[in-house]
Amino acid sequence: MRAGLSLGGQTTQAPYLWSGLPTADLEAQTLSQLEDVLDAGEQASIDRLRRPLARRDAIVAHGLRRLVLAAATGRPARSFRFYTDRAGGKPKLAGAPDIDISLTHCNGYAAATVSKGGRIGIDAEPLSRHIEPEVVAAISARAEYSCDGQPSQIAPIDLWTLKEALSKAEGSGLGLNFRQLELSPCATRLIAAPESFGDPAGWRLERHSHAGFTVAIAFGPGGGR
Ligand SMILES: CC(C)(COP(=O)(O)OP(=O)(O)OC[C@H]1O[C@@H](n2cnc3c(N)ncnc32)[C@H](O)[C@@H]1OP(=O)(O)O)[C@@H](O)C(=O)NCCC(=O)NCCS
Repeated sequence: MRAGLSLGGQTTQAPYLWSGLPTADLEAQTLSQLEDVLDAGEQASIDRLRRPLARRDAIVAHGLRRLVLAAATGRPARSFRFYTDRAGGKPKLAGAPDIDISLTHCNGYAAATVSKGGRIGIDAEPLSRHIEPEVVAAISARAEYSCDGQPSQIAPIDLWTLKEALSKAEGSGLGLNFRQLELSPCATRLIAAPESFGDPAGWRLERHSHAGFTVAIAFGPGGGR
């Protein structure tokens, strides 16, 4: 399994690890290895998904979360327990308040990330996904508009995935008004954000292009909900 593990933290010196896999052509054996490490709670929430492809993506994301945690901590993949402290809240790792986790699964791709000493969020989307102009306008901060009035100089797919990764790191998810998040023109820094994010300058934003998908990761100061 380690061959599929992309240890972003090792190559970027970042205090986090992440792993992502396209799921469409995954071998049955790999899928069952990933499923084997899940606990009954994860399996039950995955079983509630109606579409088989959505179940496959979720199995891979949850399996990867355990493998990345195992790589980060040296503990067995099956040993971790997860909880949320409110309905719709950010999943957390039990017994390890300094470790943060995030995962994403969508349309044939799954990824998970683990950080130590900060908040982490991850989101992935197909590079080909079209983001409607109305959506771009709805998620663009005023300062992101270019001087000729066009919303955001940042590619729509990057704008969406980076802001979703930030919202998942902070814990509000889509409940957050994305207009309150202002990215730098090259989308590598957070310029402004609600107070719950702490110092915007403390946030690190990364984009990885992998197998036709873009993976956005946001890592920032501790705190959160
Ligand atoms: C988190 C959220 C942005 C993810 O959206 P998405 O693009 O559909 O899905 P992704 O695959 O990228 O991410 C899903 C994962 O995010 C994680 N997640 C769920 N809620 C989260 C939150 N509040 N913060 C951070 N991560 C969250 C979960 O691990 C989830 O996967 P799982 O359900 O298999 O465990 C969206 O589901 C959301 O906004 N949830 C919060 C809703 C809420 O607050 N509801 C309250 C009333 S019930």
